[in-house]
Amino acid sequence: MPTDVYEQPTARHLLLDDHVRLLRLFEDVLERFRADDREQTRAAWAMFERSLFAHLEAEEHELLPAFRKVDPDEAQALYADHGRFRKTIEELAISVELHSIRADAAGMFVQTLKEHSHREDRGMYAWAEATLDESSYRHLHDRLCPSDDPRGRPAGTHGTMTSG
Ligand SMILES: [Fe+2]
Ligand SMILES: [Fe+2]
Repeated sequence: MPTDVYEQPTARHLLLDDHVRLLRLFEDVLERFRADDREQTRAAWAMFERSLFAHLEAEEHELLPAFRKVDPDEAQALYADHGRFRKTIEELAISVELHSIRADAAGMFVQTLKEHSHREDRGMYAWAEATLDESSYRHLHDRLCPSDDPRGRPAGTHGTMTSG
């Protein structure tokens, strides 16, 4: 008798799916902003901000310390990108509060997120795919998909930030 086999996504797929989700959440923010709904824009922003921080922290706790030992320069570059994202998030949060998000600033942010995604996929994610042990994988998984998080994670959406 065939049994249901749950195919566990690889670390790389978990992370790339999260990138796709983050871009969708940011697109939600922009859609609600364009619809001129302040309340909904703020709510979408809060979701995006929380999710982006969770992603950065997952990488900084579960991947970067070990990856740094293998490729210190590349790890440093990723940490620096994360620092820039946090700064941009602060600036965008003010724009959201003032309900005046500039299209060029939003576009540039999306572009830098996509470039970061490609860079991670080529370097740190390829390394994680090949070397992450079960316990580190579990920790990463729990940070990216907390069980109390109502968000859905459809299967088979593995991709990069180039989609959308
Ligand atoms: Fe990252
Ligand atoms: Fe990432």
